[in-house]
Amino acid sequence: MYGIEILEREHENILNFTNILEEKFINILDGKEEIGINFFEKSINFIRVYADGHHHKKEEDILFKYMLEDLGPLADKLIRSGMLVEHDLARFTTLELEKALKSYEADPSTKNKLDIIGHGMAYVYLLRRHAEKENQVLYPFAAKNLSEEKLNLINEETKAYEENFNKEFLADFEMVLLG
Ligand SMILES: [Fe+2]
Ligand SMILES: [Fe+2]
Repeated sequence: MYGIEILEREHENILNFTNILEEKFINILDGKEEIGINFFEKSINFIRVYADGHHHKKEEDILFKYMLEDLGPLADKLIRSGMLVEHDLARFTTLELEKALKSYEADPSTKNKLDIIGHGMAYVYLLRRHAEKENQVLYPFAAKNLSEEKLNLINEETKAYEENFNKEFLADFEMVLLG
């Protein structure tokens, strides 16, 4: 099922990113690295453009839309009280991380450093839980219960969505983060 496989692959990229972020915080706590403003600005950009602007938006516009239309109260509850709330929480956490980074730039105190680590790790834990729930519960539920016709529509709409996304973004991002 192409539409869902693409979402699962994107989870792998997002989970790799959470590992890079966690590794960075460990190095900072171990005194091996300082807070690098450029690294965190790139990280926030990755979250906004890829994790949220591409992945979460595609879930909301395509898969969740068809699930809400066709799969009754259980899907409604899973999506509205679970997934969408967590997408919003991820946006809020990113905003808090950005604020902490700005405060640290103005005043590199231990308190401001702690805020960056705290909000950054909140994002890491949230996205790991969120992706696991989608992989283990939500996507299999959709694949099992949506009609063939709707699954085909999801595949077609996903294909169009992918064509409009700048594929070089991921490659550029990996170079900056891993380089
Ligand atoms: Fe999601
Ligand atoms: Fe997801």
